[in-house]
Amino acid sequence: MSSTDLTPAPGTPDAGAPVPAEAVAPLMRGIAVLRRLTEAGGTSSLSGLERSTGLARSTVDRIVATLERMGYVRLDRRDAVLAPRLMELGNAYLAALRLPRLLDGRADALADELDESVSLAVADRDGIRFIHQATRRRAMSLSFRIGDLLPAERTAPGPLFATEWSEQDWARWRERRAADPEDRGFPALPPAERPTADGEFGERAREADERGWALDDQLIEPGLVALSMPVRDHGSGRIACVVSVVSHTSRHTADSLRETLLPRLRETVRAMEGDLRAGPRVATAVPPAAPSGLAVWTGASKQELGREFVESLARGLTVLTSFGEGRAELTLTEVARATGLARATARRALITLEHLGYVTAHGRTFALTPRVLGLGFPPLSRTTLPQIAAPYLAELAGRLHDSASLAVLAGDEIQYTARVATSRIMSVNITVGTRLPAYATSLGRVMLADLSPAERPSPAVPQLTPRTITDPSSLTAVLDHVRQDGYALVDEELEEGLRSIAVPVRDRTGTVVAAVNVAMHSSRRTPEQCVAEVLPQLRTTVDAIEADLRVAGRFTRVPAS
Ligand code: PHB
Repeated sequence: MSSTDLTPAPGTPDAGAPVPAEAVAPLMRGIAVLRRLTEAGGTSSLSGLERSTGLARSTVDRIVATLERMGYVRLDRRDAVLAPRLMELGNAYLAALRLPRLLDGRADALADELDESVSLAVADRDGIRFIHQATRRRAMSLSFRIGDLLPAERTAPGPLFATEWSEQDWARWRERRAADPEDRGFPALPPAERPTADGEFGERAREADERGWALDDQLIEPGLVALSMPVRDHGSGRIACVVSVVSHTSRHTADSLRETLLPRLRETVRAMEGDLRAGPRVATAVPPAAPSGLAVWTGASKQELGREFVESLARGLTVLTSFGEGRAELTLTEVARATGLARATARRALITLEHLGYVTAHGRTFALTPRVLGLGFPPLSRTTLPQIAAPYLAELAGRLHDSASLAVLAGDEIQYTARVATSRIMSVNITVGTRLPAYATSLGRVMLADLSPAERPSPAVPQLTPRTITDPSSLTAVLDHVRQDGYALVDEELEEGLRSIAVPVRDRTGTVVAAVNVAMHSSRRTPEQCVAEVLPQLRTTVDAIEADLRVAGRFTRVPAS
């Protein structure tokens, strides 16, 4: 293993810090793989990972097999692809931080009102890291994602955070600038063309301290202007996060942004500080951790996969998930209890994670750092429902040898958003984007059934086959049944010889956001066989999609199409 796998990237503050004797090497290697995959945009070939991490191929294979078992990565031919489930690591940090839950709504409302992008960022050593993005980007090439890290000196939030820096922080910043003048340690950015002078940033920090706001006049990229203000914690008076309004020079100069929007931004900050004071709307007491069964799970995985399962990597990553809402600071004992790990195992994992900068220790307690978001969150925070569903649809279609599809409701039609076809069984050629009348399809019926009668489009259904139900009161009765049964079976109403069965896909709030079906030629299975054989598999598929959607949708909005 080369030294690059065990040390932080050049330019990061603790580059070169000696590896503690008790550090868990497989955990460090696994994290190196997750970081490279994140920097590569979420996908990399196995040989690409071998090159970028400097690890032996057999090591990469074992790490990927372990991450696959955990649901954090999936294999797509020869590529390793980050999976939505990995977002549970970043979710643990965001839940523990509480800020997204308390402030995202106001950031979104401000973005809607101004019709400009609004973001929330926290300090990450000498960088800033986004914890929320309400994006309204138009003429901009770059748009940042939750978890992206930017160099403080090229942003508007940076000088505000720098008002709280110690001499040591400034020294660390200067060191990083000297080691990495082109900002290569910031994969969200193209390399800097013109390094800014050190003195400039000091001056901007002094101004920010005086004024209480800061500007980014095209420091990150030409055309991009941002105005930022700090949101302060009521108790300590320290900056909890920074809110930014981000625009483009085609609409605002940096000065006009300040002149027109500063009062509105101020109001939002005041309201946000009120929200922080009011605190969580949940109990603050640390809830007792549920026994996770991790020991049983890792034991079984080890037995099944043998050498291919790296137990210490799985255990170490699970330590990150023991943190969360009301569990921001945990003692070693609490981490051990939450994960079911032996104290010695939990301790070594925490030492490793602290060395890598994912955990900080304050006295006897540990807390997650924003760096945890660097483990997959930026690319995964853009995941759409069709992307989540695609591998599960492929698996289902492969098992049944029939086509499987995902669709959303668009007025009185359904629109296909993902589809895995096995053979062409329909004369209408269905592809992603195809629209069909909702009332005559199984996909449409499960989505319509979730709507109240008042919300449903009027059932004007053409007589597509002799069996098509067109009578409005019959259709209402059909939908009532579908709602009760939780599935819809449509038998040759859309097209002769075509039979399909669908179930709804619900988001974390229980709202139906899409539907999945299996369609087949009517000679393949009777309607009874569809219910007995296909429905259970369809439900298993949708359970898996919904589980991913719950993780992905906890702090981001997952587009349904
Ligand atoms: C952003 O939210 O994308 C953003 C915020 C502040 C900056 C640059 C970009 O200075």
